[in-house]
Formats: sequence, structure tokens, C-alpha cells
Amino acid sequence: MKVTVFGVGYVGLVQAAALAEVGHHVVCVDIDKTKVTRLNDGYIPIYEPGLENVVRDNHRSGRLVFSDEPSVGVAHGEVQFIAVGTPPDESGAADTRHVLSVASTIGALLDRPALVVNKSTVPVGTADRVAQCIDAELKSRGERFAATVISNPEFLKEGSALTDCMKPDRIIIGTDDAAAEATMRELYAPFNRNHEKIIVMDVRSAELTKYAANCMLATKISFMNEIANLAEKLGADVEAVRLGIGSDPRIGYHFIYPGVGYGGSCFPKDVRALISTAKSVGFDADVLKAVEHRNNCQKNTLFSKISNHFNGDLKGKTFALWGLAFKPNTDDMREAPAKVLMEALWQAGARVQAYDPEAMNEAQRIYGARDDLQLCGTKESALNGADALVIATEWQAFRAPDFDVLQEALTEPVIIDGRNLYDPVKLAGLGFDYYSVGRAH
Ligand code: UGA
Repeated sequence: MKVTVFGVGYVGLVQAAALAEVGHHVVCVDIDKTKVTRLNDGYIPIYEPGLENVVRDNHRSGRLVFSDEPSVGVAHGEVQFIAVGTPPDESGAADTRHVLSVASTIGALLDRPALVVNKSTVPVGTADRVAQCIDAELKSRGERFAATVISNPEFLKEGSALTDCMKPDRIIIGTDDAAAEATMRELYAPFNRNHEKIIVMDVRSAELTKYAANCMLATKISFMNEIANLAEKLGADVEAVRLGIGSDPRIGYHFIYPGVGYGGSCFPKDVRALISTAKSVGFDADVLKAVEHRNNCQKNTLFSKISNHFNGDLKGKTFALWGLAFKPNTDDMREAPAKVLMEALWQAGARVQAYDPEAMNEAQRIYGARDDLQLCGTKESALNGADALVIATEWQAFRAPDFDVLQEALTEPVIIDGRNLYDPVKLAGLGFDYYSVGRAH
């Protein structure tokens, strides 16, 4: 099928690559000319396992085309995806400006009926507004046909985005239009194998499903972080509690890892956006407000532990920091707990020697050159002369370090671990002062 994807950000690019990989002909349109030029030159703007090869192969074969010309995209697709960003505005609500602008562009250029699919994460009711935008443009040109607008939210995770897209656990299609449903079923047939993954519902429920999924996962994390904090005060071990509750299939093992708070471009933004949507209809989303509050507090816990260990005197101290990305297998530092930590350490007059397997360029881009940040080429070099090691991201490469090397390199054998990577008994035996999350020190 012929497909157009507006927006080559995370969601748009991965979705386009997956659709091309199964044989569809995809044109991606982005107004960022530099991005489009670089993609045409084979440069992939994000780090995502497997993506580079799939984009390159399909680009070479002509099934994946990048253009900065909206008219090329509108002329091409039987299905037109909108996959542009919905960043938060000052109030925390999702800003749908880019989505509506693409809608107007489609309406201004369309010369036949079309199926327009909202892939962006958008507040409930946005599909109706997209339809109105397109309609207004069509009417102003005296056209008599209409576009059908449906919702098809994305559930991919950074770090496994391509796999999530190629092997989705569900495909939500929000429409009550039978023809639109049939087209989407045909489009997604190559992904709908082994068992039925397509769930069809009305547009508003599909839009709400996306937020409900992310907010439920964020709630699990904040709840677990609350239990971890409580475990520390009560002398219990949250890792034992995690295993004990995860074994109940009604709870499950997923997303109950305590840590330093959730980050990334989705959970923080989507929790705030749903709180804001609730407010707009006069409803107080008490649970979600608490989820957000707990998360903001949790992001400060690494700093508190460091500060407590050094009796509040961090001026002139140096900290080795392992992990900058908000989670492993990505270079994304948006809302990363490591940023909150570094900024608090700098505020307290400390220096940071940081290492991350993928996010070094991103850290350089965000912070540039500053005296109190040294971006190190290896995890070992980040340790040299540091007063303690702090771990903010659970990269595989950090799971089994040579503890002798650590002891040699650090001025004091102190580890503050925000991801519970090591066994406290073993580390105590090796002579470390080891602080983790929700476990007795
Ligand atoms: C999340 C969702 O998992 C995807 O399903 C969704 O499609 C995506 O948002 C989106 O809306 O685009 P992502 O932000 O890539 O995906 O990252 P996750 O793997 O969900 O992790 C989010 C944060 O939660 C990370 O900071 C991670 O460290 C933290 N986390 C996760 C925990 O602290 N504990 C856990 O048990 C799990």
C-alpha cells in the first residue's frame, strides 16, 4: 500500500521503517529540511537498535522516501499518518499545534478522499479537531469530498522501538468507519500474525487508551518507589518485596523495579497531560497527581543519599556518574534522572565525571563545555580520583564491574546505586559503603 508519514521523529521514523520493511511504499515528510537531507544521506538522527539497517535497506530499495515537500506526501498516500510531536505547553497540557498544522496542510493539498491516521499521542477529542481542520481547508477550496480521521496510537518503547513496531502486542484502531477499519486491517496484516492483535474501538477510547497505558505504567513505578522508600525506613528489602508481589499474576513482574524515577519523553509528559485533560473537564486526577509528585521526589533521592553520606559537604568533591540516558539502550536524556542529579551536585559545588555508552554526544549538546563536568571516554576513566561512584542508569555494561579497579580508582570506596545492580552483602564484604534503593544500608 502507499503510505505517507508526516513527522520523522521517533515514532514517525520507526513506524515508517517498519511499514516499508513489510513491503509498503512509504513517503516520510518533515518540514526540517536538514533532517530530511541527512536522512537521504543515510544519517539516522536517533540511536535505536536495528533501525539504521532497516532504514538504509528500504531507502535504497526505494520503498522508504524522505521529503520536505508536503505536496509529495499528500499526493502519495492512501493512508496519511500524522506522527508529529505533542510537547507540553506551560500548563502541562499536550500542545497539538503541530498536529493541527499538518491537518491543515493535508486539507489544503488533498485532491481526493483520504484516510488520515493520528499516530501522535494526542488529548481525547483531537481526531475531531483534525477532521475540522481538514474540512475547513477542503470547504474553502470548494471541494466536496471529505477525509476520514481515525486514531491509531503507538506503544513502542525507546531502545526496542523497531521490535515493538514489528511485533506489536496490540494494534489499537479507533474508528467507527467500516471502510477505514478495513484499510487499516490490510495495512497491518503483516504485523497481525500468530494471534489477533487488532482491537477496534471508538476514536475517543483509542485516544484515552494511549494515556491510560502510560499512566498505569507510571503509577506502578511510583507506587514501587514509594514502597522502596518505606522499606528503607522500616529495615525491609524492596527487592524481596518485588519478587513477593510480582509472583501474583494480577500484579506481574513488569514495571515494578524501584529506581530513581521515570524519565523520557513519554511518561512525565503524558501523566501531566492527562492531569491537565482531567482538569479541563472539571475532574481532579488525584492518583495521577500523586504519581507525578512521587516521581519528582524520587529523582532527588540519589542526591539526598550522597549528601547524607558526606554530611552535606559536597563542595569541591568529585563524583563519578555511570549512566546519563533516562534508561539503557538509548541516547535520550529527556527528563533523565541523571540531569536532576548533576544539576543538584553542581549547585552544591561538586564536579561530575560522567560516562554513558550512548548519551555522551547528547550530554555534550545539552551542557557544552563546563568546568564541573568531564565527559569521559570509558566507565573506568570516569572513576579516577572520584570521591564516590553514582549509578543512574542500568546499562548492561555496569552490571559486573571489576570491584578491585573501582576500589583502586575511587578515593573512598563509596557507591550510590540508583538501580539496585549489586548485592549489598557482597559489597559490604568487599569493604564498600554501598547505598541502593529500598534496601537497608
Ligand atoms: C514508554 C512506554 O513503555 C511505551 O509503551 C510507550 O509507547 C512510550 O512510553 C511512548 O508513549 O512513546 P519509554 O518512554 O521508551 O516507553 O520507556 P520505558 O521503558 O517505559 O521506561 C520509562 C521510564 O520508566 C524509564 O525512566 C525507566 O527507567 C523507568 N522504569 C521502568 C522504572 O523506573 N521502573 C520500571 O520497573 C520500569
